[in-house]
Amino acid sequence: MSQTQAAGGTGAMQEFTYDDAIVRKFLLATLLWGVVGMLVGLLIAVEMVLPDLSMGIPFLSFGRLRPLHTNAVIFAFAGNAVFTAVYYSTQRLCKARMWSDTLSKLHFWGWQLIIVSAAITLPLGITQGKEYAELEWPIDLAIAVVWLGFFGTNFFMTLVKRRERHMYVALWFYIATIVTVTMLHVFNNLWIPVGLVHLIKTGQMPSPELVMKSYPIYAGVQDAFMQWWYGHNAVAFFLTTPFLGLMYYFLPKAADRPVYSYRLSIVHFWSLVFIYIWAGPHHLHYTALPAWASSLGMVFSVMLWMPSWGGMINGLLTLRGAWHKVAADPVLKFFVIGVTFYGMSTFEGPMLSVKTVNSLSHYTDWTIAHVHSGTLGWNGFMTFGMIYWLAPRLFQTQLFSKKLVALSCSAGTTSSAPGPRGPRPTTSPSSAPRPSPRPIPPAPTSTPSPASTPSSLAATPWTASSRPRGTAGGNASPSSSPCG
Ligand code: HEM
Ligand code: HEM
Repeated sequence: MSQTQAAGGTGAMQEFTYDDAIVRKFLLATLLWGVVGMLVGLLIAVEMVLPDLSMGIPFLSFGRLRPLHTNAVIFAFAGNAVFTAVYYSTQRLCKARMWSDTLSKLHFWGWQLIIVSAAITLPLGITQGKEYAELEWPIDLAIAVVWLGFFGTNFFMTLVKRRERHMYVALWFYIATIVTVTMLHVFNNLWIPVGLVHLIKTGQMPSPELVMKSYPIYAGVQDAFMQWWYGHNAVAFFLTTPFLGLMYYFLPKAADRPVYSYRLSIVHFWSLVFIYIWAGPHHLHYTALPAWASSLGMVFSVMLWMPSWGGMINGLLTLRGAWHKVAADPVLKFFVIGVTFYGMSTFEGPMLSVKTVNSLSHYTDWTIAHVHSGTLGWNGFMTFGMIYWLAPRLFQTQLFSKKLVALSCSAGTTSSAPGPRGPRPTTSPSSAPRPSPRPIPPAPTSTPSPASTPSSLAATPWTASSRPRGTAGGNASPSSSPCG
């Protein structure tokens, strides 16, 4: 079923429909892969305490399942959530149906096929061995085709034929995501497939292991540098920019408020995308990387705090005058907690990038806690906020139980703050425990500040750059638990 809209203009009234069937598919895939990815997360968490749980079976070992967890939650759970947001909001922001329903479907099925290939190859130990870029070259090629050929083409062609002249900031965040992820994926996956080379040179079929095997064109520290340029920017352009786009569309919608400052959204967009791309070397402090490159990465990471908080502040202040709604609306609670976690992890990140702090935190669970306050706290809560807002609209129904929503919110808030604890096994199942694990410092807890008050704001949710800032009246604070 599609939603029909009418657009005016100078000519005759135009009628057009949105493709919501594709949004529903992506939403259901998000839920499915969310369950799978987090269950695997739970399993490896238990394996850290009970290593014998894998019963010596290689594909159940921590080292094989850990990349399955990271790939499933990042590319399958968060990825499908991003596509849900992009397909729903782009059509509305452009007042246009997606350019091609066929490309939308190819994108959906192609992406799910890639995930299934990951779920088969990673437990079998078929891996490039680079974190977040583990998938071998045939799957990498498929990712390039599906991401750029199907998704990118469809998205950009929809922009081209849009009916709304102004490109709202969420669309800019989506553009940055598509362009930069393409760039990162291509450059970090310049590999030589040895099986293919063997076939071309000798004319003989390579052995099954050789078919999938490839080696990078980079060597030594250049390889590490490329990997962490990719790794860090995967966080930036897969787990941050699309979620900021999601925030800028769904938060004002759910709160029925204009964005606090449209100008701030533009300023922090450009500063964020410019600064993020330089910060990768903070993953390689005290390594063979030249010290100046590592210091440069540190400086850019510290600078990154500001544009990141620009987004957080803009998100939270959009709720000025709507805190009474936050207390009553479970969807808004998810968004508030998500944005608060974004603020916390982007404060903690720059701090961890300072060399002296990193010399303490690296190799400890502090990193893992940072990771999950970003991924579970920011990505997870924004995703579930969006799903709780979208599902009733897409499936023309009501939330089954608001109490359950509040319960999942409280449980999620409690468990997103601390990372997994205890001594950390390395990704190699047979290796010794890591040196001197240190205790994690107490994890921060989040209570959204009971901010301000009703105001006479412009009614349009997003283009209120010149609306009055003055507020008056009493505070309507949320209940003592952020989830009510
Ligand atoms: C029920 C929820 C989850 C559980 C129980 C869980 C558990 C774990 C565990 C046990 C590890 C390995 C930690 C270690 O090696 O010391 C891990 C790593 C990781 N998880 Fe999760 N996780 C969950 C949700 C998520 C989500 C939703 C995301 C992303 C959207 C995510 C992203 C990651 C990443 C990126 C790593 C690797 C961190 C690193 O290498 O520093 N996790 N998780
Ligand atoms: C201003 C923003 C941020 C900065 C400067 C930053 C910085 C850092 C630093 C310094 C590390 C530790 C590197 C190491 O010791 O190996 C790290 C790890 C990590 N961060 Fe962030 N962070 C930021 C935001 C985020 C957010 C929002 C997320 C998730 C959505 C995230 C996900 C991760 C992941 C997955 C890792 C682990 C990488 C690995 O596998 O080793 N970060 N970050």
